[in-house]
Amino acid sequence: AAAPRYEAEDATIFQGAVESNHAGFTGTGFVNSDNVAGSYVEFAVNAARSGPRTLTVRYANGTTADRPMDLTVNGVVAQAGRSFGPTGSWASWADSALTVTLNAGANTIRLTGATAYGGPNLDRITL
Ligand code: GCU
Ligand code: CA
Repeated sequence: AAAPRYEAEDATIFQGAVESNHAGFTGTGFVNSDNVAGSYVEFAVNAARSGPRTLTVRYANGTTADRPMDLTVNGVVAQAGRSFGPTGSWASWADSALTVTLNAGANTIRLTGATAYGGPNLDRITL
């Protein structure tokens, strides 16, 4: 079975907005986080079993500068300042994959802008 997808536009958004003005997103849009440190998108993820799995973040960064984000899982920093580099345009979406460890049952995965530029535009996560 395909890995579950969690659209950013359905997640909890702190300091950001759902938009659809750049093509290529899945679902009904993407999240444009405010360009401030601390803006975040938090996904509620249910896991059938505990343990590691691959988390893929689909994003676009139409600037020429990195947009690092802090990744927390269940409130614990899994990776601080993870790089989300330029993708060429706001309509060019890239996948960034890493391994995370989940609990059985309910989990939260939060991506927080680590600099004053905020995060990149976020389309979805898959895991
Ligand atoms: C532009 C772009 C937005 C993006 C923003 C940014 O305004 O249209 O989608 O989020 O730049 O720099 O973060
Ligand atoms: Ca933005």
